[in-house]
This record gives sequence, C-alpha cells and structure tokens, in this order.
Amino acid sequence: MRIGIIHPGEMGSSVAASAVKGGHEVFWASEGRSAATRERAGKAGLQDLGTLEALCEASELLLGVCPPHAAEATAAQVRDAGYRGLYLDANAVAPERARAVQALLAEAGIGFVDGGIIGPPAWRPGTTWLYLSGPARDQMAACFAAGPLAACPMGPEIGEASALKMCYAALTKGTTALLCAVFATAAQRGVLPQLLAQWDRESPGLAAERESSVRRVTAKAWRFEGEMREIAATFAASGQPDGFHAAAAEIYARLAGLKDVPIPVPRDRVLEALGGD
Ligand SMILES: NC(=O)c1ccc[n+]([C@@H]2O[C@H](COP(=O)([O-])OP(=O)(O)OC[C@H]3O[C@@H](n4cnc5c(N)ncnc54)[C@H](OP(=O)(O)O)[C@@H]3O)[C@@H](O)[C@H]2O)c1
Repeated sequence: MRIGIIHPGEMGSSVAASAVKGGHEVFWASEGRSAATRERAGKAGLQDLGTLEALCEASELLLGVCPPHAAEATAAQVRDAGYRGLYLDANAVAPERARAVQALLAEAGIGFVDGGIIGPPAWRPGTTWLYLSGPARDQMAACFAAGPLAACPMGPEIGEASALKMCYAALTKGTTALLCAVFATAAQRGVLPQLLAQWDRESPGLAAERESSVRRVTAKAWRFEGEMREIAATFAASGQPDGFHAAAAEIYARLAGLKDVPIPVPRDRVLEALGGD
C-alpha cells in the first residue's frame, strides 16, 4: 500500500516505521514542519513528498497522528487538499470528536477508521497497541501486521477505539495531574518533606517515583491539556462529572511552558509553574 503519515511525531514516526517494516511505501510532507519532525521522518525511513497536496495525491491510506487539539483541523486540511482514500485518526480524542471528524471527511467521500494508541512510541514488540474501530478496521490493521506496533481491531462502530483510549488515559494522565496538584499544595502548605517521608514509610522508593512523575510530565504537558479536555467531554457525554479532567487540563496548562526544558525539571521550577499565579 501507499501510506501517508500526518505528521511523524514521536508516536507517529514509530507507527509509520511499523508500516515500512511491513513492506509498504510510507510518505510524509515536510512543508511547515520542524527540524525535530524532519529528523524523526528520516530515521523512520519515510519518503518526503514536500507538500500536503502531494501527500494526499500519492496516498491510498492516511494516518493522522498529531496533537489531539489539532485532530479536526488536520482532517479538514486533508479533505481540502483533495484526498479521497481511507483516513485513520489515531489521536487521543473523544468518541464524539472522532464521529465529527468522520462526518467532515464523509462529505468528500473519504472513508474513516477510528484509532486509539496505548503505550509508548512503538519501537519494541509488546509495548504499544493501536485499537481500531469502524467498518474498515481490518484493512487498516493489515498495514501493521509486521509489528512491532500491535494493531487490535475492535467493532464496526466509529468512537469505540477512542472511548477505550479516553478511559485508559483518564486514569493514567489524570492521576499524574492529581499528583502535580498534591505536590504544589503540600509545598505551599510547607508539608512536602513530611508527605514524601510518609510515602516512603509506607513503601520505600515511592516518594522518588512520584516526584519523578511530576518532574518528567512537563515535556508532554502542552499536549496533555487538549487530551484532558477530550476526556472531560467524554465523561460529560457519558453522564459522569467532567470536573476531574477539566481540572487536570488546567494543571497541564500551567506546565505547558516547560515543554522544552530538559527533564527531569528541577523541583522548584515545576512548583513555580504550578503556583497558579
Ligand atoms: N507519545 C506517546 O507516548 C503517545 C502515546 C499514546 C498516544 N499518543 C498520541 O499520538 C498523538 C501524537 O503524539 P506524539 O507523541 O507523536 O506527539 P509529538 O511527538 O509532539 O508530535 C506531534 C506531531 O504533530 C505535529 N504537530 C504539532 N502541532 C500540530 C498542529 N497544530 N497541527 C498538526 N500537526 C501538528 C508535530 O510537527 P512539528 O513539531 O513539526 O510542528 C509533530 O510532528 C497524540 O494524539 C497522542 O495522544 C502518543
């Protein structure tokens, strides 16, 4: 198959590399992209077609793997660039947004597969799963048969894969956001050393582990804000309170400015960012 990736980020480049491993021709478009994206595309063995228009013209399948807040806009760009094949949205978005993207593409006769990725970038087998739903889920899964990304077809409904991803990330990333707020509150109240000591009394090493989570999440916080808003919307549409993840979005928004600071970020800088001023 001739497959395009929009855009090769940390996750997207590993997804694309699995398709390359399966013997498919995989393209990307460098126009407007950063040096980091170019480097990742080169390492993953992707062919640069320059523009989005050229990418849409050449591809039978397009893989959309970009920050969740850009999912709908990216799909609209693809539609407007003349694409007419099958489109996978593997971003962390609410099922309702996945269906909105499907509707936007259907206007132009573009087929849609809903995707949700669980795990770190897929460079080793047994670490990363791409859940797929929708009528064309098996066709999409076949692109990744060579691994290391494990494609897992679900049912025929658009939104199913996204719902699974939302529930999974609600707990993992929601918990880390809560931990950030606990750290900031304990520091503000002058009881952080005692809190860390109490955690270590219960389980030696727990304090360092939790502190490490807080000091490392900063690199991705800019992207997690949008994902938390998608989870809040998913909860609300499922009859659950959406306040947990609305608050988590606010926590990550406070950390977004630390995106390019090497991790682990010093504790004081994280606490200052969380300060809430
Ligand atoms: N990384 C993970 O461990 C992980 C795990 C599970 C799921 N995911 C999902 O995978 C998706 C992408 O994550 P990632 O880790 O690959 O992110 P990433 O490394 O930050 O890469 C994002 C890519 O999208 C491009 N991009 C940035 N802003 C954009 C915008 N406004 N419109 C269109 N493209 C834009 C970036 O290009 P430039 O930098 O060149 O602008 C980059 O190539 C997300 O939906 C995420 O939830 C990631």
